[in-house]
Amino acid sequence: MNYFEITGGNSLNGEVRLHGAKNSALPILTAAVLVKGQCVIHNCPDLSDVRKTLEILKSLGCSVEQNGSTVIIDAADVNKCYIDESSMRKMRSSILFLGSLLGRLGKADLYLPGGCEIGTRPIDMHLNALMELGACFNENGSYLSCTVKNPQCKRIILPFASVGATENIILYSVLQEGTTIIVNAAREPEIQDLADFINSCGGSVIVSNGEVQINGVKALHSGEHTIIPDRILASTYMSACAATAGDIIIDDVKPTHLAPVFPYFNEMGCRLYLDNRRLRIVAPKRLKRVRKVTTLPFPGFPTDSQSPLVAALTTARGTSCIKETIFENRFRYVSELNRFGADIEINDNLALINGVRQLQCADVFATDLRGGAALIVGALAAQGTSKIYNINFIDRGYEALEKSFSGLNADIKRINDEEREKDESIKECEKICS
Ligand code: UD1
Repeated sequence: MNYFEITGGNSLNGEVRLHGAKNSALPILTAAVLVKGQCVIHNCPDLSDVRKTLEILKSLGCSVEQNGSTVIIDAADVNKCYIDESSMRKMRSSILFLGSLLGRLGKADLYLPGGCEIGTRPIDMHLNALMELGACFNENGSYLSCTVKNPQCKRIILPFASVGATENIILYSVLQEGTTIIVNAAREPEIQDLADFINSCGGSVIVSNGEVQINGVKALHSGEHTIIPDRILASTYMSACAATAGDIIIDDVKPTHLAPVFPYFNEMGCRLYLDNRRLRIVAPKRLKRVRKVTTLPFPGFPTDSQSPLVAALTTARGTSCIKETIFENRFRYVSELNRFGADIEINDNLALINGVRQLQCADVFATDLRGGAALIVGALAAQGTSKIYNINFIDRGYEALEKSFSGLNADIKRINDEEREKDESIKECEKICS
């Protein structure tokens, strides 16, 4: 079993560069299915969710080459529209293949997606919108067989600014004849990034103020794109720095993407210095509490940054209040965080974090990706050596996390139990033989 062993107490310092955004990479890789040519995608993070997406692309008939953080996908020969259940269940974003396969081939046979258990995460908005645009669905348990019967282009009004539904509608509509408009579309920076990628291949997707206009084109051509830096990773580093009274520089930030989180770090007493795309964060010895944080769609405070922030606030002076409005099950990690001696009470979608002076080490289990990041932040701040299990969740969204945190003066190791046992028995044999 793999786990992280973290000896807490070191203040983070040094410089770290962000990798590409997971939530951009996944839809952009999925969009490559629409292109009858070569897509060169730079700054693609090496994450388990990205690897799973590349496997799906290969299974559909795409050729995939990787050269460092550059991925080259050629979807000229895509001819399969089927994705097996186990691939679909590995991550939530697999549902985006629905839009791209329907757009490219007019047919998609797949299953309901999986993903982190942070809520019921239905896909009703995806399906309703695609039906309005002419897609037909046959459901059989978790199996979905979909075709495009009578393609339409119209205004789609989303009841909630869902990121995934917005992306699926875009992917579906890029190659349809006519103009589709999404009203109340998600405004997350990753939507603009998806549009930029599609436009680099000759598409016409215009994102503006909560509306997305997709002017259908006959075909997309080869294109090249660089994925935006990961704003959630940036906020995770900021929380870890805040929790350890650190002083770090985060390189390659996009300030506008992080604007929703900056005020809360200021409120906690952190000093932020922006110099072009470099952000320096200097944390005080002890953080101040934040009065109230409410997670909201962009440009609100991101739900994905909530858990690491909560972890930082566990040792702040006073009581902080966090309201989660996006996912109903996003405090599952809290009982694990409390094992470090944190004092967090959950009342429905509210977390009250009563700051304690010092966290103590514990052995804990990640419950989901960002909840896992909260446990990392907790362990970095805690006295003593902690173990974090279920790190497969963390690997979905953080590339070689132990390396980047080690570079920031953290004492963190990825341990493979089996290898450790082997090493120990070899050492024992050597002792006996000598
Ligand atoms: C994406 C992100 C995820 C982030 C979330 C919110 C990716 C790969 N994932 O997830 O990291 O936390 O945005 O910023 O980009 N909903 C419905 N019906 C639907 C679709 C959504 O009820 O058809 C609900 C969801 O259950 C959730 C809320 O809407 O409560 C937000 O979901 P959505 O914005 O779609 O998030 P995801 O695209 O799943």
